[in-house]
Amino acid sequence: MSFAAVAAGLAAAPAHAAADRALGEYLSAECATCHAGTAPKAGAIPPLAGMPADQFTALIMTYRSGIRDNAAMRNIAKQLSEEDVAALAAYYEGLKAP
Ligand code: HEC
Repeated sequence: MSFAAVAAGLAAAPAHAAADRALGEYLSAECATCHAGTAPKAGAIPPLAGMPADQFTALIMTYRSGIRDNAAMRNIAKQLSEEDVAALAAYYEGLKAP
């Protein structure tokens, strides 16, 4: 491992959560069409704001594995990388619930 990589790793550690949230905010643009705001939308689309990260991640996994069967969410869950899921979880957890 190069010095630059080690230094970057050290520098990134404390800022990790903030960086994750920034990526999550970016990725959430795709979700906002359906999951905007803090109240359920028409069609019973649940709000994501304020959801604990563990719960968020577990729910995404239920769509990915097919335990929960929803066509839109299954496709979305399968497209997200582990890093994307973690970033979105951090972002939504940080949003204020009503
Ligand atoms: C096309 C509309 C649509 C888009 C876009 C969408 N979702 Fe969903 N999402 C839904 C619907 C509908 C449900 C409820 C499905 C069900 O009944 O299981 C849902 C459920 C969820 C749940 C479970 C919530 C709960 O409390 O049960 C999570 C987590 C979630 N979506 C995350 C996301 C994320 C993250 C994105 C963006 C990467 C996203 N969704 C984009 C329609 C959408």
